[in-house]
Amino acid sequence: MQASATLAAAQAAEALRAAGADVVDFGAGEPDFDTPGNIKRAAEEAMRAGRTKYTSTGGVRELQAAIIRFYKDQFGTEYAPAEVMATSGGKQAIFNAVVTLLNAGDEVLIPKPYWVTFPEVVVFAGGKPVFIDTETTNFLLTPEQFERAITPRTKLVILNSPSNPSGRVLMPETFRRIIEIASERNIYVVSDECYLRFVYPPAKVFSAASLPAELRSRLCIAGSFSKTYAMTGWRMGYALGPADWIKAMLKVQGHSTSNPTSIAQYAAIEALNGPQESVGEMLAEYTARRAWLLQALRDIPGVKCNEPEGAFYAFPDVRGCLQKDLKTSAEFAEQLLKDEQTVVTDGTGFGAPGFVRISYATSMAQLQEGMIRLRRFCERHI
Ligand SMILES: Cc1ncc(COP(=O)(O)O)c(C=O)c1O
Repeated sequence: MQASATLAAAQAAEALRAAGADVVDFGAGEPDFDTPGNIKRAAEEAMRAGRTKYTSTGGVRELQAAIIRFYKDQFGTEYAPAEVMATSGGKQAIFNAVVTLLNAGDEVLIPKPYWVTFPEVVVFAGGKPVFIDTETTNFLLTPEQFERAITPRTKLVILNSPSNPSGRVLMPETFRRIIEIASERNIYVVSDECYLRFVYPPAKVFSAASLPAELRSRLCIAGSFSKTYAMTGWRMGYALGPADWIKAMLKVQGHSTSNPTSIAQYAAIEALNGPQESVGEMLAEYTARRAWLLQALRDIPGVKCNEPEGAFYAFPDVRGCLQKDLKTSAEFAEQLLKDEQTVVTDGTGFGAPGFVRISYATSMAQLQEGMIRLRRFCERHI
């Protein structure tokens, strides 16, 4: 199994920091904000009230109800309790969904660039990842690209909008058309919507959950509290899907990790049911950073960057800087760290060599210093 590119970058930064270097770190795949106070207090109260025992595998009823209510309020969708389960992070929802579905040799379509976990989970489950190249359409999967990639062995497609690493967001009409095609061809869909709420106007928040029920019979949505509520360490996520699929997923979870941590479940209930101002504040901060960063990146020679409509990543093309001594984006990232103590994540691990991922889940001051360093570096290499 491949080591995660994200974690490798984090470790390299840590080693330099330990040696006393002034590191600018754009590697982070998590918010730089603290978990909002009301959410922490809900966990404290749950602990004091003795809610520290096993719960049902898919989470307590109040959490399932909070997830169902959220989707009803936001997207007008009616999910039944048998169609929802809480998981230990969105990652476990994806894992459960994939391992319960695949038989040996099943093909799984994964658009590039992809979150590093997708192909690894598919291989773990005995499936065969089949990648769809989307560079010609600036990393936005089109219905035509999807349709062309389907073979008689295609069992599943994994979608991720907003995307990690590209930050790109599928337009609702495109998203719908892709799921219509999947439905016509009896292909299952896992829609990883972990960055659901981090979308920048004019792009709009869209969940596949808002599609009509007949398009959702082979659709599993993976959701997460990690990014929206700055709760990465709490390990809370959920899955929404057809009852028979969720039932199989509950079996896998029941015989592996059981319920997500009980007190984290109460924190998650408060996250959904409590005040949402903190989400707006984080979004406003990401919006300002994103605008500044995109402008700064566009001014750097040798760097090109599509506009990321969501998440908190920019994914620039650095091939303009690979003409002289540097030959790959891996070398680019490595040398940038050595010369300028600045961490970016090489795109190769995401299936997009020639690109690097820059996370703006870091302060404006760090962004400004990092862009000075990146510019200096790029000017030396074009
Ligand atoms: C695209 C994507 N999906 C899922 C996850 C999983 O998040 P978690 O398991 O913390 O909910 C991440 C985390 O980085 C992600 O980037």
